[in-house]
Amino acid sequence: MKRGRAAVGWSAALFVVVSSVTSGAAADDLPLPRPAPRDPVLPIEGVGAPTDARCADCHAEIALEWRASLHRRAWVDPYFARAYAFERTGFCRKCHAPTDDPSVDPSEEARAVGVACTTCHVVGANVVGSRALAAVPGGHVVIGDARLATPAACAGCHSFPFPGPPDREPRARMQDTLAEHERSAAAAKACQHCHMPRVPSRDGGTHRNHSFAVQADPSTLARAVEVRGVSLAAGALRISIAPGVIGHAFPTGDVYRQVEVRATPVDASGRPRGRSAVAVLGRRFGTVTSPRGPARVQLDDTRLDRPRTIDLALPPTTTRARWQVVWQRMPPRVAEFFRMDVRDQEVVVAEGVATREVEVRR
Ligand code: HEC
Ligand code: HEC
Ligand code: HEC
Ligand code: HEC
Ligand code: HEC
Repeated sequence: MKRGRAAVGWSAALFVVVSSVTSGAAADDLPLPRPAPRDPVLPIEGVGAPTDARCADCHAEIALEWRASLHRRAWVDPYFARAYAFERTGFCRKCHAPTDDPSVDPSEEARAVGVACTTCHVVGANVVGSRALAAVPGGHVVIGDARLATPAACAGCHSFPFPGPPDREPRARMQDTLAEHERSAAAAKACQHCHMPRVPSRDGGTHRNHSFAVQADPSTLARAVEVRGVSLAAGALRISIAPGVIGHAFPTGDVYRQVEVRATPVDASGRPRGRSAVAVLGRRFGTVTSPRGPARVQLDDTRLDRPRTIDLALPPTTTRARWQVVWQRMPPRVAEFFRMDVRDQEVVVAEGVATREVEVRR
């Protein structure tokens, strides 16, 4: 980022559109998509007032995908609403209602649009895309910023520390998907490669899918993990798992995300015959007191980021056991606290049955 331009903010952005009405310019020093507070959006040549409803007039298919997405529902989602009720702060509002001023309660519109078209694509009076386009009749100039095709477009909201004064260290990362991505085997693939795949458009062309579906798409979750082997011995079920087609830890994102690896003794018809053994892949946090005051720290991280073998203890007499790898939006105790049924908030990403031969002595 070149410092001069960034410092003058959207007035500089306005200058860009004035100088490029017919040609569509390239830029690499505009503000990237990020939390509020943001520069005001201004009427755009060929578009008018930049509202999501207006974008949808001409980009109907993308708008339909976005409407069903968690980006659009970032404020109205019932799980967010429950969590926010305990922590009504501008810190939460700046990412979950980023089109408004985070120092006050969001307007009806900001709640309804969540992470909006304008959040990611409008800077001042400009539409910004990953490539520059000249205005076509019935369209508008697009300022091309190649960084929109890279993880930089996601970094502002998907990697951040717990709230608190910047001098209060150590301070754990609340989400760190970008750093996990850099360490992953898919580091060379952009987030967009997996989360915005090209899909067919009605007009015969293609466009980048804007539904960003993970929770609503069990097939994406199923690709996250590869089960390399399962065996049942006396006293334990052993399961070897490895990251699948994924670009960060499994699970990633929110502090409460976790994965349960379960084994349950079953009879020949699959009915449970004893207690389940469970291993949790997730993060745990605590609070330490430094001379400057309390700070959040990460106590441990058992999420999947490399191949791993997990042993689940079962009664030694077990000859048949069902195993499951289950993604959970929140731990069962948190679901209970929020009066949500955890079974509605989890997705089985892999499962099977393991058996072992037992020698019968006479
Ligand atoms: C009056 C119709 C119209 C409106 C309103 C409109 N657009 Fe567009 N937009 C177009 C047309 C036409 C193109 C050029 C498509 C092409 O050349 O493939 C385009 C191109 C784009 C592109 C670049 C596409 C690419 O292929 O690289 C982006 C991003 C975009 N618009 C975003 C928006 C956003 C965000 C809004 C709302 C603020 C918006 N548009 C409002 C008609 C419109
Ligand atoms: C810097 C941006 C940012 C801030 C600040 C932020 N969040 Fe989030 N939040 C996100 C992102 C990005 C996700 C999506 C991660 C995922 O899907 O796992 C998310 C996910 C969540 C989820 C899970 C939603 C779901 O669909 O399961 C909850 C609940 C949540 N946030 C609550 C909060 C609360 C409460 C605050 C304030 C204390 C807050 N967030 C502050 C960016 C932010
Ligand atoms: C302005 C902030 C912001 C930006 C920029 C942003 N996101 Fe998000 N994203 C969020 C928030 C907030 C949520 C969580 C919404 C919720 O569940 O409440 C989220 C959720 C998601 C989810 C979870 C969907 C699901 O079904 O669980 C994915 C995937 C995602 N974002 C990918 C991306 C990618 C890829 C980019 C970059 C191209 C990006 N996001 C840019 C704020 C942002
Ligand atoms: C190689 C493919 C791939 C790449 C690259 C990738 N992801 Fe993912 N992502 C996945 C899969 C598979 C899942 C589902 C498993 C999970 O939730 O961890 C997922 C899940 C997510 C979720 C949802 C978490 C939740 O619990 O709701 C977010 C947010 C996300 N990715 C953001 C990103 C961001 C940001 C980047 C780039 C820094 C990125 N991803 C790169 C494959 C990928
Ligand atoms: C979370 C951020 C985010 C949101 C919200 C978002 N977009 Fe995008 N959009 C992107 C990114 C990033 C790209 C560029 C992807 C690339 O080129 O790799 C893109 C690409 C596009 C394109 C070009 C599509 C193509 O085929 O290359 C259009 C048009 C577009 N967006 C319109 C919209 C409209 C309209 C909305 C609202 C309905 C919207 N976007 C919401 C991030 C977002």
